Amino acid sequence: MTLPARVKVCEMGPRDGLQNEKAVVSTEDKIAYVNLLSEAGLPVIEATSFVSPKAIPQLSDATEVFAGIRKRPGTRYVVLTPNLKGLERARAAGADSIAVFTAASESFTKRNINMSIEQSLSAFGEVINAARLHGIWVRGYVSTAFGCPYEGTVPVDSVVRVTESLYKLGCDEISIGDTIGVGVSTQVHALIPRLSDIVPLENVALHFHDTYGQALANVEAGMQEGVAIFDSSAGGLGGCPYAPGASGNLGTEDLLYKLRGMDIETGVDLARVRAASRFIAGRLDHQLPSKAYTALEAASA
Ligand code: HMG
Ligand code: MG
Repeated sequence: MTLPARVKVCEMGPRDGLQNEKAVVSTEDKIAYVNLLSEAGLPVIEATSFVSPKAIPQLSDATEVFAGIRKRPGTRYVVLTPNLKGLERARAAGADSIAVFTAASESFTKRNINMSIEQSLSAFGEVINAARLHGIWVRGYVSTAFGCPYEGTVPVDSVVRVTESLYKLGCDEISIGDTIGVGVSTQVHALIPRLSDIVPLENVALHFHDTYGQALANVEAGMQEGVAIFDSSAGGLGGCPYAPGASGNLGTEDLLYKLRGMDIETGVDLARVRAASRFIAGRLDHQLPSKAYTALEAASA
């Protein structure tokens, strides 16, 4: 069993994190937050979301946020686009990397994007084709891959089928999401070998929410199976309004603490990620859930 020498950390705080906050974060503070994350050297930052402002009012200032952030060479700034309208808005704002998102269970897909899985694949086929014509890089999400808030258990075959479809439609990278953070490591060990038959693992990311405290164990299982791209969120923010019971993403600080301790390179500065978390914590109405963030802040107080 070989662990990766290097891991790509994809930062979700400004998108998965802020989409789920009750407190209104000003456009200016969102821009400052992304800029601080950029200074940490993160290779990927999901900056905002060009979704319907009725679905996610928290990110209705996507155009202003994307225009306002400083783009660090070496960082890819990804934005969510649920349809062609989202793609057009993203292009107009100057985005060169997008993410489309469907799921492995019907009920969640319907509630999240008001489509069946089949309809979503057909709609995203058009979005991906249009994006590729413009040289735009595309990530695809498969949500509810380890459990669905409405249906419970999700068959591995459904995850494999949706992943294969997104890959064939032309996604450059596919992120497999544990949307409500219910998965355990044996599920990761069972799923990844199935996916490796259809998608090269260098194109596969894992996206764990930490609801039941399983995210780091699941990262370890993912690395053991050959995955080297992981999504996480500064301070452990995150959640989806259409996924009841979901808590935050795996904290970026927790992921970096583990990888640093294991001598796995990321190129990301943990202290600077903490500075970004500290900044956004001052704009929110609750403590940040990340354990490593909390412990490191206490130790340096
Ligand atoms: P719909 O209501 O079926 O769509 O929503 P519609 O086409 O009928 O449009 C309704 C209204 O929204 C119209 O406005 C459209 O113009 C407008 P009206 O005529 O009523 O004034 N609209 C838009 N406005 C701006 N930008 C757009 C856009 N599209 C439509 N792009 C839709 C369907 C997909 C649009 C909607 O359900 C939606 O935006 N959903 C997004 C939900 C979302 O963002 N969820 C969170 C992200 S996914 C997630 O968190 C999981 C992830 O982290 C991985 C994991 O954890 O598993 C990625
Ligand atoms: Mg998520």
